[in-house]
Formats: sequence, C-alpha cells, structure tokens
Amino acid sequence: MMLVGNVFVCFITAFSCFTLLELAESKLPQEEVDALQQITTTMGAKYWRFNNDACRIEMVGVTEKPPKGAQSNTDCECYFENNTVCHVVKLMLKGYSLPGLLPPQLVKLPYLREIDFAYNYLNGTIPPEWASTKLTYISVLVNRLSGQIPKELGNITTLTYLSLESNKFSGILPIELGNLINLQTFRINDNNFNGTLPDWVQNWKQLRRLEMHSSGLEGPIPSNISQLYNLNELRISDLNGPIQEFPLLRNMTGIVRLYVESFIIKYF
Ligand SMILES: *[C@@H]1O[C@H](CO)[C@@H](O)[C@H](O)[C@H]1NC(C)=O
Ligand SMILES: *[C@@H]1O[C@H](CO)[C@@H](O)[C@H](O)[C@H]1NC(C)=O
Ligand SMILES: *[C@@H]1O[C@H](CO)[C@@H](O)[C@H](O)[C@H]1NC(C)=O
Ligand SMILES: *[C@@H]1O[C@H](CO)[C@@H](O)[C@H](O)[C@H]1NC(C)=O
Ligand SMILES: *[C@@H]1O[C@H](CO)[C@@H](O)[C@H](O)[C@H]1NC(C)=O
Ligand SMILES: *[C@@H]1O[C@H](CO)[C@@H](O)[C@H](O)[C@H]1NC(C)=O
Repeated sequence: MMLVGNVFVCFITAFSCFTLLELAESKLPQEEVDALQQITTTMGAKYWRFNNDACRIEMVGVTEKPPKGAQSNTDCECYFENNTVCHVVKLMLKGYSLPGLLPPQLVKLPYLREIDFAYNYLNGTIPPEWASTKLTYISVLVNRLSGQIPKELGNITTLTYLSLESNKFSGILPIELGNLINLQTFRINDNNFNGTLPDWVQNWKQLRRLEMHSSGLEGPIPSNISQLYNLNELRISDLNGPIQEFPLLRNMTGIVRLYVESFIIKYF
C-alpha cells in the first residue's frame, strides 16, 4: 500500500517538473507579445497584462474587473524549433464591451488561425490588411461594424467559418467572396446589406450552414444554390415572396433545417 503511494507521488512530481521545464523553455517571440498589446489597444482596451511564459491573458478590458460573462483566451502552439518557440494560434476577446476597431495588427501573428471578438462595441469595418492572414475562423458577432465588406476578405481562402452577424454592414457582397471555397459556415443575418444573394455562392461547395435572415438581402434565391450539396441548414427572411422559393428548396434534399424568418419549415 505504502509503496504504491510513493510510486504515485514520484510519478506526479516527475510529471510536474517536466511540465514546468517545458513551459520555461518555450517562448513566444517578443514581436508576438508586442503585437498582442497593439491589438488590444486598437480594440480599445485600457488594461492589458499578459503572461508570456504561460501564454495566458491575466488582465484585459476597459475596466480592471471584466464585465460579467466576459471571456478571453489565447492558445499557443509550442512545438516550433525543437519545442523552444511558441506561436499564438487563437485569440478570443468576447463580451468586454471594447469600443475600438478591428485590429490590422493581426498580420503580426503569422500563425493565427482563429479569432473571436463577439459581443463588443467595435466599429469601423474589416481591415483590408487581413487579406494576408491564414485565418480559418472569424467571429465578429454582435458589434457595431459598418460599411462595405472589403473585397480583400475574399483573399482569406483558408476561411471555414465567417460570422458577421448582428452588425451594421451595408452595400453589396463583393464578388471576391466567391473565392472562399473552403467556407462551411456563413452567417450575415441582422445587417443592412442590399442587393440579392449572388449566384457565385455556388462556389462554396463545402457550405453547410447559411444564415441570412434580416441581412437586408432580397430575393430571389439563385437557383445555383441547389448545387450546394453539403448545405444542411438555411435561414432566410421572407425575401419578397417566399412561395416562389419553395419548389427550389424542396429539391435540396440535403437541408435538414430550413427556417424562413423564425418559422421552421423543415426540421428532420
Ligand atoms: C533540434 O534538435 C536536434 C536533435 O537534438 C538537433 O540536431 C537540431 O539541430 C535541433 N534543431 C534546432 C532548430 O534547434
Ligand atoms: C467609431 O467610434 C468612435 C467613437 O467611439 C467615433 O469617433 C468614430 O467616428 C466611429 N467610427 C465609425 C466608422 O463609425
Ligand atoms: C488578393 O487577391 C487578389 C487576387 O484575387 C490579388 O491580386 C491580391 O494581390 C491579393 N492581395 C493580398 C494582400 O494578398
Ligand atoms: C445599395 O445601396 C447603395 C447606397 O446605399 C446604392 O447606391 C446602391 O444602388 C444599392 N444597391 C442595390 C443593388 O440596391
Ligand atoms: C446560375 O444559374 C443561372 C440560371 O440557372 C445561370 O444563368 C447562371 O449562369 C449560373 N451562374 C453560374 C455562376 O454558374
Ligand atoms: C426539382 O427537381 C425536379 C426533378 O429532379 C426537376 O424537374 C425540377 O425542375 C426541379 N425544380 C427546381 C426548382 O429546381
């Protein structure tokens, strides 16, 4: 009994020592530490403290104490150069009421894949600089972003998830977005776009979820949408007469959930 206990303690101790050693040895480059500070400043944070060794945000926001429900997170991967160098791959600053702008400085985090800046008061538009990132996931859900979607967003062909939901975006969707061939989720509901849903959405062969209710876009839905064989969830508004859409949509056997405004038309 005693022996088993001791072995167990040794094992735990050895494991902790090893983990600490690893943490102490791998480092985030100073440029990325600086970039994180610039990013949060651009977004309007007055407070910022980052633990470089642990890759952890210790303080961020417009107040010293975060608002209720605020969530922040950074993920680093540390297997670079024989596990001595780390890079930021994910950044989440959610629910902080940040009053600034979307940060062009994301380009200074070359390994960044995912950003979640939902539930803030960010205004302005999407920085064209983001064109050169390799982002796979963008969520700017519920902010005060406005203006046209820059065509440069179409350069981020790595994107699989794009949520611009609940902002004040306007204008037409730039044709360059048709280049986002890896997109699986596209959510633009509750905005002030104009024009129709363009037929180039047929390029989005991987698309599974399309939410465009109350986005400002008007009908009809392009018939090409029936070529999106992976689409299984579609949310649309009345689109000036939904009846004409139904024969088309009925043919889309892949759709599992179809909502027209808040009515569920089809749900298997
Ligand atoms: C990584 O480790 C191997 C073996 O220890 C060594 O040969 C190599 O030079 C190291 N590479 C770097 C970038 O430090
Ligand atoms: C963003 O908000 C600031 C004040 O918080 C204001 O000065 C600026 O004009 C706004 N920009 C846009 C594009 O709405
Ligand atoms: C964006 O893509 C276009 C082609 O679609 C290309 O001409 C342009 O250089 C790209 N911009 C950036 C910043 O990568
Ligand atoms: C979209 O709105 C702008 C001005 O807000 C207008 O100039 C343009 O003609 C509109 N486009 C469509 C397709 O309605
Ligand atoms: C989409 O379908 C319409 C009508 O079926 C056709 O006229 C149009 O060329 C198609 N668009 C593309 C991009 O293939
Ligand atoms: C639906 O499918 C049927 C049979 O495949 C076809 O005849 C019809 O034209 C299609 N309707 C639409 C609106 O695509």
